[in-house]
Amino acid sequence: MESVASIVLAAGKGTRMKSGLIKVLHPVAGRPMISWPVAAAREAGSDPIVLVIGHQANAVQGTFRGAPDIRCAMQEEQLGTGHAVACALDTLNGFRGTVLILCGDTPLLRAETLKNMLAYHRENQAAITVLTALIDDPYGYGRIVRDASGHVTRIIEQKDADPEEQEIREINSGIYCMDSDFLFNNIRGIGNDNAQGEYYLTDLLAIAVSRGLGCLALSTADADEIMGINDRAQLAEAGRVLRRRINREHMLNGVTIIDPDTTYIDHGVTIGTDTIIHPGCQIGGASVIGSGCDIEQNVSISGCTIGDDCHIKAASVLEDSELGEDVAVGPMAHLRPGSKLGNKVKIGNFVETKKITMGEGSKASHLTYLGDAEIGKDVNIGCGTITCNYDGVNKHKTIIGDDVFIGSDVQLVAPVTVGRNSLVAAGTTVTIDVPADSLAISRTPQVNKEGWRLKRKA
Ligand code: UD1
Ligand code: CA
Repeated sequence: MESVASIVLAAGKGTRMKSGLIKVLHPVAGRPMISWPVAAAREAGSDPIVLVIGHQANAVQGTFRGAPDIRCAMQEEQLGTGHAVACALDTLNGFRGTVLILCGDTPLLRAETLKNMLAYHRENQAAITVLTALIDDPYGYGRIVRDASGHVTRIIEQKDADPEEQEIREINSGIYCMDSDFLFNNIRGIGNDNAQGEYYLTDLLAIAVSRGLGCLALSTADADEIMGINDRAQLAEAGRVLRRRINREHMLNGVTIIDPDTTYIDHGVTIGTDTIIHPGCQIGGASVIGSGCDIEQNVSISGCTIGDDCHIKAASVLEDSELGEDVAVGPMAHLRPGSKLGNKVKIGNFVETKKITMGEGSKASHLTYLGDAEIGKDVNIGCGTITCNYDGVNKHKTIIGDDVFIGSDVQLVAPVTVGRNSLVAAGTTVTIDVPADSLAISRTPQVNKEGWRLKRKA
């Protein structure tokens, strides 16, 4: 197979986003906008991929740190798309084959479309192939101009188009395949004598035509796919399309999603078969969820690994945590980062955990805070238990052995250890270590003063 390289244009700021963050780094469905076209180019067999960067160059570069196929080329001043591509050529020095040119702001573009376009470009041995679409409102886009016999002759930009040309509904997507020799030999022949005083990449079409070289336009059936994101309304629209694609893939893989329209699953999440996801859930951060799980409504999961057959009840929030198999969480529980729950653990309503391990079969069923704790197997944590882990300066650890029973309303003032098989009586404030097999109790003995209420009334 012939080699393919890509150039992804991403030097512009994206003024219409009205943002401190450069447009192509705005997240869409769980990853920066530019990661989508880059992934499509990669999947279409492109290596290397050259990013043309300018505004916030370090941030864009940082997004792809460590990716062996990504190279960056600097465009100090944004003098137009033709100038941007010219800036990438040194980085592509020595490459021969087909060059794909894409924009960093088209997250909906699919690898299949690029593969089809590459095949069409090769079959016809064209010098340049542009991806186009027929749309109802072509305003703002470059228009594809064809001659009487239907051959492409050039692309005219909105600002340079006469009223007749403005009627053309076939638009330039800004996505091209080019023969590398043609590109290298002609890119510097582009001028900037136009309404915007910019070097238009689109001028390469007219150049190819004037040289008698193959110049083709391939129209895509799905105009959605080439939608360029310019503002936050379009950003939301693109997110919706991507989510629908992601959800569909999970459903085809055997996941039940009760209401895909209100289910927000980011790119990079893995979910096993026969897991059921109820409405209003948000799942991201490359979470891995096993099979046979039941994720009830309005649950938020980020950066978690969840084993098979877990039951996550309504309105729970799970962050950067690990759950074994058959674990129950919620409703309305909060697992904060570093919570590691063994098989068959049960975390009930209004329980908050942070940086803890909990062994198999242990339970904290109601209204509890467990932070910086090592909890063994088959431990029962009573309602209202609090690990007092913070002294205002430092965090301290609580260690609870296997088979311990902690009664209701217990405070464990860390650092403290409760030995295995001990019982801590309800209402106890544990400030010193409890040996194994013991009872710990710290309460002021109760006094009953009989008739006291009657005397007071009198
Ligand atoms: C461009 C095309 C237009 C097409 C449209 C599709 C040209 C002259 N026009 O117009 O025919 O219909 O895309 O969306 O190519 N960029 C740089 N450096 C620059 C200029 C732009 O990196 O100097 C990048 C931008 O960051 C952006 C992309 O190139 O990612 C497209 O630039 P933009 O200014 O949005 O081009 P359009 O005017 O939309
Ligand atoms: Ca644009």
